[in-house]
Amino acid sequence: MYLGLDLGTSGVKALLMDGGQNVIGSGHGALEVSRPHSGWSEQDPADWIRATEEAVGELKSKHATELAAVKGIGLSGQMHGATLLDERDQVLRPCILWNDTRSHAEAAKLDADPRFRKITGNIVFPGFTAPKLAWVKNNEPAVFAKVRWVLLPKDYLRLWLTGEHMSEMSDSAGTSWLDVAARKWSPELLATTDLEERQMPGLVEGTEQAGSLRSELASRWGMNASVVVAGGAGDNAASACGMGTVRPGHAFVSLGTSGVLFAANGSYLPNPESAVHTFCHALPNAWHQMGVILSATDSLNWLSEITGKEARGLTDELGEALKTPSGVTFLPYLSGERTPHNDAAIRGAFAGLGHQSSRAVLTQAVVEGVAFAFRDSQQALHQAGTELSRVTAIGGGSRSRYWLKSIATALQIPVDIPADGDFGAAFGAARLGLIAAENADPYEVCAAPATAETIEPDAKLGGAYAHAYERYRALYPAIKGVS
Ligand code: XUL
Repeated sequence: MYLGLDLGTSGVKALLMDGGQNVIGSGHGALEVSRPHSGWSEQDPADWIRATEEAVGELKSKHATELAAVKGIGLSGQMHGATLLDERDQVLRPCILWNDTRSHAEAAKLDADPRFRKITGNIVFPGFTAPKLAWVKNNEPAVFAKVRWVLLPKDYLRLWLTGEHMSEMSDSAGTSWLDVAARKWSPELLATTDLEERQMPGLVEGTEQAGSLRSELASRWGMNASVVVAGGAGDNAASACGMGTVRPGHAFVSLGTSGVLFAANGSYLPNPESAVHTFCHALPNAWHQMGVILSATDSLNWLSEITGKEARGLTDELGEALKTPSGVTFLPYLSGERTPHNDAAIRGAFAGLGHQSSRAVLTQAVVEGVAFAFRDSQQALHQAGTELSRVTAIGGGSRSRYWLKSIATALQIPVDIPADGDFGAAFGAARLGLIAAENADPYEVCAAPATAETIEPDAKLGGAYAHAYERYRALYPAIKGVS
């Protein structure tokens, strides 16, 4: 048995998988995000532990015997968060999350230093970890002075699980301190933010062991004390392991809180100019590129909150058949945008509203706006030398058939729906746990699931979508000038 733990933004998921990679069961613990100011997004790391206890507790209540047989645990998590600890491993302030844009000025300043793009292969985005530390130094100097460790969210969970200060390449690539080609910390970049390598966790590959479960937790959960904890991965690389997106040419589109268009690469192919992220994959000697949009299902959840109708109900109102874009356009920049604009200050917009613009018209515009944001990412990947011929859809939003039709038509490529099953980040993490515990071949373990169905682009609406995309593209420069 193997356990995958995914520390997401909206909850922790614990997934149990057997040696034949069958999912035995899962447990969940909910999380909330605190937004004390516009652009801020924080969580208390103590809540991650509470949610993990809940998730594993639920699993234990349903599958105690199987849980007792776990040999390997893999971790996955929301990326980029800055978890700051003092010398006694006490948390110094709430974790500043991946979608927090308060450090945009610090990010722009670091990004202007050419060494960052050269060594990390990426723009220094405000959501990344290094500019957050620069913000803390500028605004909370007393906190900064006490920082002994900077850990990513899942690595804080690992500290609690194992007592080790360890990380792995895929998540660390999103800090702006990793030499992404060489897969090691860059002392030069750390020094630029007044930090030293000794404040960073040790590094392994995602497939390697990075600690063992503490005996206290093992006995509480009825597990073996020698359980191996694998390096694991940032949530996108972990999802890729779950989906078998590990070889060049394979890609997925993830419709979660954030939206990700992810392509696996056999070599390091940076192109920061197109605002593409180029990170290490969880497998040794592999990398990946991705376009990231900050508010994907979050955009629909926002509409759901203000209309008082559940997100599922909103998309159900659209019916089955893809509609011609109505002329109402939505820009999904509720917390700014990464790919392709790298603009923390921009905010979302509806344009083209009329008396006839019903709730369903707004929902349609939100769904299309997110699909067009993915088209932007597709073009950014194209500029970075990656051509996508098809993608597999994952994430909560991919349950909406309408949304997938809209994405296939906006991208003009087929979207595959995997056969029934749970192939997300927690499953990928469990696979990494298996690889580390059994010393198994990563490529054999990370096989792709069967495709249940393929959604083709709507042939009749290709032209109307292309036209609507032009309108979408023209709006960003227009509203940027106003805000
Ligand atoms: C990736 C990113 C998000 C988070 C979501 O760069 O910021 O996808 O990992 O959890």
